[in-house]
Amino acid sequence: MKVLITRKIPGEFVERLKNAGFEVDLWNRDCPMGRQYLLERVVGVDALLSLLTDKIDAELMDKAGPSLKIISNYAVGFDNIDLDEAKKRGIVVTNTPSKEVNEAVAEHTWALILALSRRIVEADEATRRGGYYGWDPDIFLGRSLVGKTLGIIGLGNIGTMVARRAKGYEMNVIYNKHNPDPEAEKELEVKFASLDELLSTSDFISLHVPLTEETRGLINKETLGKMKRGSYLVNTARGPIVCEQDLAEALRTGVLAGAALDVFENEPNINPELLAMENVILTPHIASSTWEARLKMTDQAVSAILDFFSGKTPENVVRG
Ligand code: DGY
Repeated sequence: MKVLITRKIPGEFVERLKNAGFEVDLWNRDCPMGRQYLLERVVGVDALLSLLTDKIDAELMDKAGPSLKIISNYAVGFDNIDLDEAKKRGIVVTNTPSKEVNEAVAEHTWALILALSRRIVEADEATRRGGYYGWDPDIFLGRSLVGKTLGIIGLGNIGTMVARRAKGYEMNVIYNKHNPDPEAEKELEVKFASLDELLSTSDFISLHVPLTEETRGLINKETLGKMKRGSYLVNTARGPIVCEQDLAEALRTGVLAGAALDVFENEPNINPELLAMENVILTPHIASSTWEARLKMTDQAVSAILDFFSGKTPENVVRG
């Protein structure tokens, strides 16, 4: 049984697979495998342990051939995989959702909210450049979070964890999702809002929806135009939910006071205008990058393959 792993991942994974009798082909470099290598090395594999940076489409599945039975995606998101094509070929697709990943993303979201409101990155950079000349009552004035409104778009597992943490900062939390969630409202003391209401009344908006045809480009010229003047946007979900060009314009014209992005429209490329803005914080898709989350993801991704070939249904089968 042959498994292709498209990148080195943290933790014990090669040994576990080898001990179970798998032949392991690992792309053991600190860069993505690249399409050409991927297409060459996937031929004849029984299992593929892929990353969100690998495009898993019909061409790739055809190259792999009928031996490919399972794609274990090392990510919660699976927008890199053509699920219909996998289904047509009877290939099982799994992902790696967990409390550890959700917590990591929720914590990173808060790190970004705080860094934006208190201008941490700008202040750090200025201090390192020798720009601290002694206490000044007028430098790096930020915004307090107390009493402000946090608008959460997508109150799933991560959105819920973000909302729970907002209580400690004494913020008002409103959320938007397909249907109101009375239980969550009671537990988290949050209120449902229509998208328009959320956009126009939130001081901070945080995105926690998956990337689908419905959410692609959700934050665009029109929706940005509805946001409260001087508000902030945080995106730790998926880049293409935000139209970067429109966001740059909203920041340039002062509609938004700032934005923090962990994900980008065309990763790893970033809109040059956003790169040059001081009121924008950029992190390189690291929201789930904690040891706790990554080791859990490794365990889940490997277990999915081992379970599948020992006749068990893997824990996190993706149903498209
Ligand atoms: C995911 O799992 O989908 C994250 O975006 C990457 O860790």
